[in-house]
Amino acid sequence: MADHLVTAATAATEFADESAPVERPTAVDEVVVLDYGGQYSQLIARRVRECGVFSELLPHHVGAAEVRRRKPKGLILSGGPASVYADGAPKLDPELLELGIPVLGICYGMQLLALKLGGRVEGAEVGEFGRSQLTVRDPGRLLAELPAEQSCWMSHRDTVFAAPPGFRELASSTESPVAAFESEERGVYGIQFHPEVVHTPYGQDVLKRFLGDVCGCDMQWSAASIVEEQVERIRAQVGDAKVICGLSGGVDSSVAAVLVHKAIGDQLTCIFVDHGLMRKNEGDQVVAAFREQYGIPLVAVDAERRFLDKLRGVTEPEAKRKVIGAEFIRVFEEEAAKIGDAKYLVQGTLYSDVIESGGGTGAATIKSHHNVGGLPEDLEFELVEPLRSLFKDEVRAVGAELGLPERLVWRQPFPGPGLAIRVVGGEATKERLDVLRDADYILQDEIRKAGLYRDLWQSFCVLPDVRTVGVQGDERTYGYVVVIRAVTSDDAMTADWARLPYDLLEQIASRMINELREVNRVVLDITSKPPGTIEWE
Ligand code: XMP
Repeated sequence: MADHLVTAATAATEFADESAPVERPTAVDEVVVLDYGGQYSQLIARRVRECGVFSELLPHHVGAAEVRRRKPKGLILSGGPASVYADGAPKLDPELLELGIPVLGICYGMQLLALKLGGRVEGAEVGEFGRSQLTVRDPGRLLAELPAEQSCWMSHRDTVFAAPPGFRELASSTESPVAAFESEERGVYGIQFHPEVVHTPYGQDVLKRFLGDVCGCDMQWSAASIVEEQVERIRAQVGDAKVICGLSGGVDSSVAAVLVHKAIGDQLTCIFVDHGLMRKNEGDQVVAAFREQYGIPLVAVDAERRFLDKLRGVTEPEAKRKVIGAEFIRVFEEEAAKIGDAKYLVQGTLYSDVIESGGGTGAATIKSHHNVGGLPEDLEFELVEPLRSLFKDEVRAVGAELGLPERLVWRQPFPGPGLAIRVVGGEATKERLDVLRDADYILQDEIRKAGLYRDLWQSFCVLPDVRTVGVQGDERTYGYVVVIRAVTSDDAMTADWARLPYDLLEQIASRMINELREVNRVVLDITSKPPGTIEWE
């Protein structure tokens, strides 16, 4: 997976300057990661959190004052795609080195430090991309107790040839004379390799040394530990006002709803709009979990007819999205009005949404898709966003902590417009949606039985508006083609097609053809992203 990520095109994350900061949990140590545009910047923050230290990813240009305001115990400078010598390349604000906290530069971050402090950085003839061998000559503080020889992951062309004066050169690699350096006195550390990717087996140990030994962090933070804190915050925010929450059946809105219910009980009402474009039994599962398991007041609206009527004659995917998005808002507003005088709306906004809310990048484009089937920003509610500081896997941990059913916690992402955008090239009629729903059910059933569901980012079927000739029981048939799409991914920005076992594929195909009269052919999509997208449009 990460292999694929490394070779895939990089898209620097952009930030909306106006995006509100996340609420830092009180009484926990934090380390700030400054993003210089590297493809792994989010991953660095996640890995720091996995070490038990709360971490925020901020754009590199926020300035030293903003970093100081957060009172972090340490600072990490991420990698980035630029050469330190390129025009317009992000520079190092020297004040960042005067905050009185340790600084770790990774890749581009290390090169910035080297350049600023008088080391020698040059564009090398040969870049160093992929797996490399690290030789530790002087472990210093950062690499203490780690093997002298280890493999690591590199992705750079500029190279540090000499550490700044007064620094210890700790290690070299296949193509980097100085692959790690440090100055304990100055509290400045640099590594050329990427500790955050799985291909650096001791990477997490290096981060732990920096966070624990160097920064002196108390490594106690966990996603689950935010529950009590959030409960207090939600109570303080909403007082005794009424709150509503749109449930989609996905993990984010479910966890947000349960958390808010834990805080304010029946002041919360959930609204679940079943647009008839869900997967098989999905609506029933959501209703059962919320009404029966948690006793959360829930309005479930069966709006299938309304959506199908609106979708009649609509074949273009973008047009489908628009129709569904608009109708969703209409139904939601009608139901919210019936509840009356609700002041707050719960949203399952995640930390990655906060980071990616800038415009102009691939990230932002995907985000605009995500909003389809969601709610617009100008609804007349104040927002309650209890998951704003969490990454997806952390939300799952909170969901598990709150006792949500395993099926809900581990549900794969599902687009807001649902199965309608997976009937491609034609109208999403009830008949086609039912064929697709049944095919999808077989796929999920077999993937779960094979124990692969959690390994896949997404697995689903696509139903093109195409029929082909087949032969079954001596008879000529003319049936639908079902496409199997299964991908691995870390964040949906890039994805690889999943190598499902042949026997499993055969079992899935034969079940689809035997059990679904309308289907006589099954094919597998073997396109990664890029160049493809995950969904078909
Ligand atoms: P693509 O197809 O662009 O999808 O590679 C990336 C991720 O976004 C999901 N997706 C959507 N999610 N509403 C959503 O809520 C949408 O309209 C939508 N379109 C795509 C997709 O399933 C994948 O996880």
